[in-house]
Amino acid sequence: MFKEAYNIVIVGGGSTWTPGILKALTKHKEKLPLKKVTLYDIDKERQETIGEFGIVLFKEEYPEVEFSYTTDKKNAYTDVDFVFCQMRTGGYPMREKDEHIPLSMGVIGQETCGPGGFAYGIRSIKDMVEMVKDVREYSPEAWILNYTNPAAIVAYALKKVFPDDKKIINICDQPVNLLRSYGRLLGRSYENWEPVYFGLNHFGWFKNIYDENGNDIVPEIKKITSEKGFLPADAEQRDQSWLDTYAMVEDMLKDFPDYLPNTYLQYYLYPEYKLKKLDPDYTRANEVMDGREKRVFAECRRIAENGTAKDSSVVHNDAHGDMIIEVAESIAHNRHRYFIVMVENNGLIENLPDDAMVEVTATLGINGPRPYGVGKIETFYKGLIENQYAYERLTVEACLEGSYTKALQALTLNRTVVDAKKARKVLDALIEANKGYWPELS
Ligand code: G6P
Ligand code: MN
Repeated sequence: MFKEAYNIVIVGGGSTWTPGILKALTKHKEKLPLKKVTLYDIDKERQETIGEFGIVLFKEEYPEVEFSYTTDKKNAYTDVDFVFCQMRTGGYPMREKDEHIPLSMGVIGQETCGPGGFAYGIRSIKDMVEMVKDVREYSPEAWILNYTNPAAIVAYALKKVFPDDKKIINICDQPVNLLRSYGRLLGRSYENWEPVYFGLNHFGWFKNIYDENGNDIVPEIKKITSEKGFLPADAEQRDQSWLDTYAMVEDMLKDFPDYLPNTYLQYYLYPEYKLKKLDPDYTRANEVMDGREKRVFAECRRIAENGTAKDSSVVHNDAHGDMIIEVAESIAHNRHRYFIVMVENNGLIENLPDDAMVEVTATLGINGPRPYGVGKIETFYKGLIENQYAYERLTVEACLEGSYTKALQALTLNRTVVDAKKARKVLDALIEANKGYWPELS
């Protein structure tokens, strides 16, 4: 690609994460020089608030960039080099249902895990397929960098629907969040570490992490975690529920000391315990709507009114924004830096199915990801991952084929559900709640 400056569109322009990404884009102008930045959203009102903030920010920090926002696809997708995709079909009100409905029936309700992630996944697939088709119509060569959730299900669905599209990268910021957190724990910079990671999205483990000198620092991270517990890198900015989530890494390591677990594994390993801790009437969606959403939107309005973003703190550094820009930079300038991404297995994890979308370390360059294999994995991890892979695959097939039976099989397999009668009850409630979003399942 090697252009002088790049054109970017952010899909889901009205998201609470967008201001952080915009800020990161202005901060990293040396890394990734920009010509045009466009926000695209179907929610005009939300996007306008964020877009007006963007206008002020870019005028102050990066006036050379043509910045705009639109609800018109053609406008958004024409002449684009990178699509940063973070759409949320149904918005936070539907996230609230994904979390509330299962919890009210005694099953984990979470954004990406269990029946919540299942419901969200089926909603996401339709819009994501449409997005890829639209982007390919107007910008056939654009790189699509996706972190729309549940990324595992979205990645598998996109692979099935667009098997030959080599320019879709599915990535999640949680592995980087964890690397940053290990950095804080050790008081070191994580930036040049080489991670060995395996699993599925929100369902994986760090096997080794080699530092600049080639030493594996995983044993030290385990030791300090068992002595002092575990915190997110940006603990001061986190709500209590996230602090609780990170703290559980210590518990997981006590039970399963082989590898460093992704935080999301706790929902699958301790569903009963987590269920007791979660409140069906005030879920993470409520916490986000009352917290981050109010804060970000109020701050964007204030900045637009004052005409300056110089005094703003709301758009603090978050892994999300920095990571996606580093990904784009590594591709555009053929840097081959390490990232943890979702790619088709094809033997990377030797004893797992070839068509699984696994999450492993890869370098990213102008020809896409060069992933690293991890060989065979042990029985416990293989069993867990195969079960989760079967659940994800059946979820995608249920959606693409409109199959109720496959949907029921998927939920029954999910470790947060297990009981088929429970699965049917939750499924029927989710079908009702997702009318207009889901295909018909029969
Ligand atoms: C992490 C995960 C994302 C997820 C987000 C939820 O960053 O990697 O996949 O969407 O957490 O955060 P929230 O603050 O909205 O609960
Ligand atoms: Mn994620």
